[in-house]
Amino acid sequence: MRLKDRAAIITGSGGDLGRGMALRLAEEGACVMVNDKNLKKGQETANLILTRGGKALIHGADITKSVEVKEMVDRVLKEWGQIDILVNNAGDIRDALLQNMTDEDWDFVVDLSLKGSFICARAVVPHMVERRYGKIVNISSLAYRGNIGQTNYVSAKAGVVGLTQALGLELARHNINVNCVAPGLIDTPKAATLDSKTRERLIQKTPLKRMGEIVDIANAVLFLVSDESKYIARQVIHVSGGMEGF
Ligand SMILES: NC(=O)c1ccc[n+]([C@@H]2O[C@H](COP(=O)([O-])OP(=O)(O)OC[C@H]3O[C@@H](n4cnc5c(N)ncnc54)[C@H](O)[C@@H]3O)[C@@H](O)[C@H]2O)c1
Repeated sequence: MRLKDRAAIITGSGGDLGRGMALRLAEEGACVMVNDKNLKKGQETANLILTRGGKALIHGADITKSVEVKEMVDRVLKEWGQIDILVNNAGDIRDALLQNMTDEDWDFVVDLSLKGSFICARAVVPHMVERRYGKIVNISSLAYRGNIGQTNYVSAKAGVVGLTQALGLELARHNINVNCVAPGLIDTPKAATLDSKTRERLIQKTPLKRMGEIVDIANAVLFLVSDESKYIARQVIHVSGGMEGF
């Protein structure tokens, strides 16, 4: 029970990786605010935690909307009195080559991954500063190093790395650790939609010669939000089987 009585907010935790993180952190004793704009998926995650004897709340805040995020944060503070952990996980893609990419494709992806992470961090940091304790993990992607057809996603995820560096520096003096996890090719339903040639090429490019599992990402996040990593700040951990870029 490495996270006994710690309160965590995990954005987009109705989704594949976020659900894995929520279950793993709850297993270690954390009270988890399951955030997802898709309430049905969020509720499924919360139910899984509750049936395993853990503590969970659910909130459908759209993380790109400051007012909704504030309501969610207020709710956690009302229920649990504290916020120890924020995992900025919600993210999505709208792939296209640059000449076909619309303003909407760009704004959707950058607003969700980058602005959403900023909004959520800004909402929880005052409480963390007050208690001189906090762990923030931003979920980037190995794609931050570049990928064809993803200028919006790559820019957003590189921005998430920049946010980690900047915020990590700003908050270290308050005993708040900000770090980042960059997943590589992970075995989620999304990876199943890749054509088999691309999948095989990426597996061959991965030194460990296989896809990662959802729990591999959850374990990296668990390490970064636990006190076992208390001297680690502003780092990007590639959970990618040794792959250094798509
Ligand atoms: N799946 C992978 O292999 C992989 C690889 C690298 C990086 N990532 C990153 O990991 C994170 C999670 O990916 P995933 O595959 O689990 O995605 P997912 O689509 O399964 O889950 C994302 C969740 O976020 C929710 N969401 C979307 N917009 C929201 C908003 N405005 N407010 C609140 N919730 C919102 C969605 O409803 C969804 O449930 C993302 O940031 C993604 O970019 C994933």
